[in-house]
Amino acid sequence: MAQHNPWPDEGNTGHIWDEDLRELDNPPPLWWMLAFYAGLIMIVFYAVYYPTIPLVDSHTKGVAGWTQVEEYKEDFEVLNNWRERTFAAEEEKLASMDVADIIKDDELRAYAVATSKVLFGDYCMACHGANGSGNPNFPVLADDNWLWGGSVKQIEASLEKGRVGNMPAKGMMGNLNDEEIGQVADYVIALAADEADSEQYAAGKAIYNGKGLCMACHGPQGKPVAPNGATNLTGSIPRFVGVPGNLQADRRDSVIHTITYGVNVKKDGNYLPETRRAEMPSFKERLPDADVNIKRLAIYVHELGGGQ
Ligand code: HEC
Ligand code: HEC
Repeated sequence: MAQHNPWPDEGNTGHIWDEDLRELDNPPPLWWMLAFYAGLIMIVFYAVYYPTIPLVDSHTKGVAGWTQVEEYKEDFEVLNNWRERTFAAEEEKLASMDVADIIKDDELRAYAVATSKVLFGDYCMACHGANGSGNPNFPVLADDNWLWGGSVKQIEASLEKGRVGNMPAKGMMGNLNDEEIGQVADYVIALAADEADSEQYAAGKAIYNGKGLCMACHGPQGKPVAPNGATNLTGSIPRFVGVPGNLQADRRDSVIHTITYGVNVKKDGNYLPETRRAEMPSFKERLPDADVNIKRLAIYVHELGGGQ
């Protein structure tokens, strides 16, 4: 800053930088002051007109009686009325037709899929992942392996009734020892890798078809003969990953855990703490307009990629 002021008469503040850069003391322009006062008036107007000032346990309501929630509700109703008028014919058909017929109609099918995305996001995605791509220990819906069947009627039934699979601990009779469980686990892993015919898995294969009676549910070649809730063991995507408390545990430990503790196994009316839990809730009571929305979602899931 300079020591003395070479421009004493121009009304500068005496602050001078870089020899000639001065701070002047001019009044603000008129337009700026007008805008400033207009702003003050608007503040008072808004404060009186809209809900504004916080009180101890509420706030001033404003003379306009406006609330954001009210406005949202009004807009929503306008949109809903428009939707109902525009898609009345489609909704009527979804309500009255059978899913098996709806899915054969290209336009209705596309309509059902398009109107399911938000529903799926709200009600299904938390468990089944975006677009049904699965989450650890929740089944993938976008592949062609089905626990309970992939026809649109079977999918509809899964949604309507819910599904709870059951696998006894330690084989059908509950009598496999740790060594046998290890052998049958190796055989199961080989089934998924398509190497199960190798001589080294003969012991596991014998247990699978004999003492463990695994084939009763999982089918003689690892594929259930008819959908019964059991996993297709030849599929490339594991149904369960890790062990409870450690999702990183390797595949063999994971399979051994499933065989040792079973799926949804109860003792004295309570689930065993270590058993695999697999429960698809019924959506009959959970979904709004369930009779139409279950059909819509069944078609959506069927179209995700793996429908049969
Ligand atoms: C709380 C978690 C959860 C939610 C929410 C959920 N599901 Fe499921 N779903 C499961 C589980 C677990 C299974 C596997 C049941 C079993 O193993 O028997 C399943 C199974 C299914 C199946 C059968 C899959 C097959 O392979 O046969 C379908 C279809 C399905 N769900 C669709 C849906 C749809 C559509 C929604 C949304 C309306 C939904 N689910 C919401 C957990 C859930
Ligand atoms: C009473 C029917 C039943 C029997 C018997 C049965 N399972 Fe299962 N198994 C199931 C069901 C149900 C599931 C779980 C399906 C689901 O919820 O996704 C399952 C799941 C599995 C899984 C998990 C698959 C994965 O990818 O994580 C393995 C492994 C398995 N079973 C192996 C066996 C073996 C080995 C035996 C014989 C010792 C056997 N199961 C006997 C019904 C059965």
